[in-house]
Amino acid sequence: MRVLLVGSGGREHALAWKISRSPLVEKLWITPGNPGTAQVGENLDLAVDDLDGIVGFARAQGVGLVVVGPEDPLVQGLADRCADAGIPCFGPRADAAELEGSKAFCKEVMIRHRVPTATYRVFSDLNPAISYLQGGARYPLVVKASGLAAGKGVVICEDARQARDAAKAMLEDGAHGAAGRTIVVEDFLDGPEASAFALTDSRTFVPLESCQDHKQLGEGGTGPNTGGMGAVSPNPMMGARTADAVERQVILPTIHGMNHEGRRFQGILFAGLKLTPAGPKVLEYNVRFGDPECQVLMLRLKSDLVPLLLACAEGDLDGCEAPEWDTRPAITVILASQGYPGKYEKGIPIHGLDALETGDDLQVFHA
Ligand code: GLY
Repeated sequence: MRVLLVGSGGREHALAWKISRSPLVEKLWITPGNPGTAQVGENLDLAVDDLDGIVGFARAQGVGLVVVGPEDPLVQGLADRCADAGIPCFGPRADAAELEGSKAFCKEVMIRHRVPTATYRVFSDLNPAISYLQGGARYPLVVKASGLAAGKGVVICEDARQARDAAKAMLEDGAHGAAGRTIVVEDFLDGPEASAFALTDSRTFVPLESCQDHKQLGEGGTGPNTGGMGAVSPNPMMGARTADAVERQVILPTIHGMNHEGRRFQGILFAGLKLTPAGPKVLEYNVRFGDPECQVLMLRLKSDLVPLLLACAEGDLDGCEAPEWDTRPAITVILASQGYPGKYEKGIPIHGLDALETGDDLQVFHA
């Protein structure tokens, strides 16, 4: 089979590495990819938002599976375009990808289908937002840009002044552009974070092993939040009972709820959770693999990934064998340029990677 993987991060290198090991795969392209993905497949020069280019290439080359790494092309409708062209695509259509594309929609779905989440309000105008923030709101609370803001649209506010500044920056001053024209204000949830992933074809789902990213930049949990300075799997906070509660209270009602709303979800459902004393509650949904969480998951997955991805795309997940996992834990540690996640120098050569003895137990993924 010919496979086309869309994206260029560490997640895509990890996916490309795993896909390239499948005996089913005769050719793997990654677009645009990165120098790491070029070691396991052939990179293309098509941007992730070049939907015409991606679908045209896939059709011309007889691609049997398109795998979409990041959320933006999914929200823009790449899975719909592939479906129109008759090409199986791993990743939800745009109407289902709205779970990540709009935090306001995501909250509505959770409330409608009784998925545990924080109490919230939605605002598109500053004055009512300020009235609420200076009136009945309880602190700390969280102000979020509703749209896609590359992981930067969430502000935890300790008091009304901080909350007003965050709301004004998004609603009036254009921070995050169109993504911040609507904001979600929600109660702050206390407890450890956890990520839960489930593959689904909308009829059935397969939970993946637990894992957790580590967001803070500095040693000892200090410094600003990043996309993730590392990840571990399994997540030591996610015991069997919690995992079971997440499946019953979060994953299942969300997939059923999306079916009920006429927005069939197929692909990977990624629930960002807080494990509160009252049980797991959803902070947000993502519609793609987490990064760097994907890296530890791919190292621990012993089964072939490709049949699972294809089954999600084709609605045949029930016919797949349950995935086998390495029982040993895995960790990812990120090496980032000085200054990250703020301004940082790019293009600095990294030496010495060739000396590493990589294999099933150690991989270097480029992001
Ligand atoms: N590591 C968090 C994310 O992928 O959204």
